[in-house]
Amino acid sequence: MTGKELRKLYVDFFKSKDHKEIYSASLIPDNDPSVLFTTAGMHPLVPYLLGQKHPLGKRLVDYQKCFRTCDIDSVGDSCHLTFFEMLGNWSLNDYFKKESLTMSHEFLTKVLGIPQERIAVTCFEGDELAPKDMETYSIWKELGYPDERIFFYSKKENWWGPVGNTGPCGPDSEIFYDTGKEACSKECGPACSCGKYVEMWNNVFMEYNRNEDGTFEKMKNHNVDTGLGFERVLYIMNNQESTYDTELFQPIIKKISEISNIDYYNTSEENIFSFRVVADHLRSATFILGDDKDVTPSNVDQGYILRRIIRRAMRHLRKLDITGNGVMNEIAKVVVENYSDIYPELERNEDYIYSQLTKEEATFNKTLDKGMKVAEKMMQSIDKIVDGETLFHLYDTYGFPIEFTKELAIEKGLAIDEEGFAVKFREHQEKSRIGAEQKFKGGLADSKVETARLHTATHLLNGALRRVLGDTIYQKGSNITSERLRFDFSFDRKVTPEELERVSVIVNEAINKNIPVVCEEMTVEEAKSQGAIGVFGDKYGEKVKVYTIGEYSKEICGGPHANNTEELKNFKIIKEESSSAGVRRIKAIIDFE
Ligand code: ALA
Repeated sequence: MTGKELRKLYVDFFKSKDHKEIYSASLIPDNDPSVLFTTAGMHPLVPYLLGQKHPLGKRLVDYQKCFRTCDIDSVGDSCHLTFFEMLGNWSLNDYFKKESLTMSHEFLTKVLGIPQERIAVTCFEGDELAPKDMETYSIWKELGYPDERIFFYSKKENWWGPVGNTGPCGPDSEIFYDTGKEACSKECGPACSCGKYVEMWNNVFMEYNRNEDGTFEKMKNHNVDTGLGFERVLYIMNNQESTYDTELFQPIIKKISEISNIDYYNTSEENIFSFRVVADHLRSATFILGDDKDVTPSNVDQGYILRRIIRRAMRHLRKLDITGNGVMNEIAKVVVENYSDIYPELERNEDYIYSQLTKEEATFNKTLDKGMKVAEKMMQSIDKIVDGETLFHLYDTYGFPIEFTKELAIEKGLAIDEEGFAVKFREHQEKSRIGAEQKFKGGLADSKVETARLHTATHLLNGALRRVLGDTIYQKGSNITSERLRFDFSFDRKVTPEELERVSVIVNEAINKNIPVVCEEMTVEEAKSQGAIGVFGDKYGEKVKVYTIGEYSKEICGGPHANNTEELKNFKIIKEESSSAGVRRIKAIIDFE
């Protein structure tokens, strides 16, 4: 089975069950202060899961590009990846547990033909705040799963949400593939990491609301959010040992073999590990750079994560004795070629991908060898733990990301003082870097009133910039916290103070006019003909939401927004700076009182 076939089987199956297809959103979320990357298929759907009406209705299906670092330490095993695609289907206050699990079961056993006896499932075991999920258990029983294949686990394994501190959340039920390997112990079950069970699908039932005081209350509305691991299912379907054996990775593995002259299928475990880290990290880096948001390796936010995976890939290339310049480009090219038919943005941004990799390669090459020598020497005189000071020195002087040094230390039988590093890091770095780390671990978009208002201010700013600087400027990125907005747009020179002043005057004029923010649903063609800006067409499906703020703004957008501009009180630009080549960045605030 090819990847293309699997995506199509999935989407077609759910279409046949009245779902509408939506398209993969960007890997870098807009307007979301709480995460740096899209980490799950539900991420772009947060406003709809929180109750807004989706233009395409109550049943949705897609495949979504995702990136997570929480599994980075497991990369190298058979199934954990940093970049992956998630196949997802959603019920927005429509079907619930029974239909959802029945469809999942039907897709896996009938469409994919996975033998039912190779499937194990899990349910929420209950605690003092929410009861045991016996409904899910009964559905699995009715579908023919015997007790020994139904496992109950605690909140840690079988609960998802809420978004932020309060909001919709609920128990989930996970579906695992049993590889048939011997159980590692009597306790071995789907939650065990020995490799017998591979998690395929998570069905989340959002039936509770978490209150401020931490209690859970049953909601009137209920959603289903599911995520099926694309790469995993593909290797399972092809009876392969790991994701790296699939056609998604084989061209990359072949390329690394060709360059290193090492046969991946006939080499040491250590080399196989390096092959996998390089393949995983450079595939991820290519997708991040290939997104339209122009992320660049740096020391903050997405750029910092990108830098870390590129640098780790560089070290593992060296472990395979690959040191030449331009090697990462050769590998990235394979990724672009392998995926452009599904994700055309990779081809569109091809030159950008290569130029950024080349730059980062040159930057890190300057310090890598020297840093390695210094690290080796330092570690020789340490006998147990590499202290925070040393870790920070390697980071600050030689650009060694923490997990990079951790890996070196582990190879030498040493531990590292991560806490000590964090203290030093905090002392020396701008808080934004730490912020990036925290955000990266964080939850989902908060839907506070402040962020909704700042989102409306962002639309007004975009509209005003277009009036003052011309309508050739377009949005490159947006990030909103509950304190400020940050807006990136294409423009190739500094915006003058006079221009910024005119922009502020226009935005404040709109605020003072008390204009209602109107949301309408229409087809992409209608939106276009009305002059709406935003992401058009194939990215959205047939119907979209358009937010209009009088004469000041008309944008395709998912929301949420303020109801009226008067809520914004007063708008102020606090900074204008360069973000990257040809991209300017504005930070602005509004008054909330
Ligand atoms: N959002 C759920 C997950 O990521 C499906 O597991």
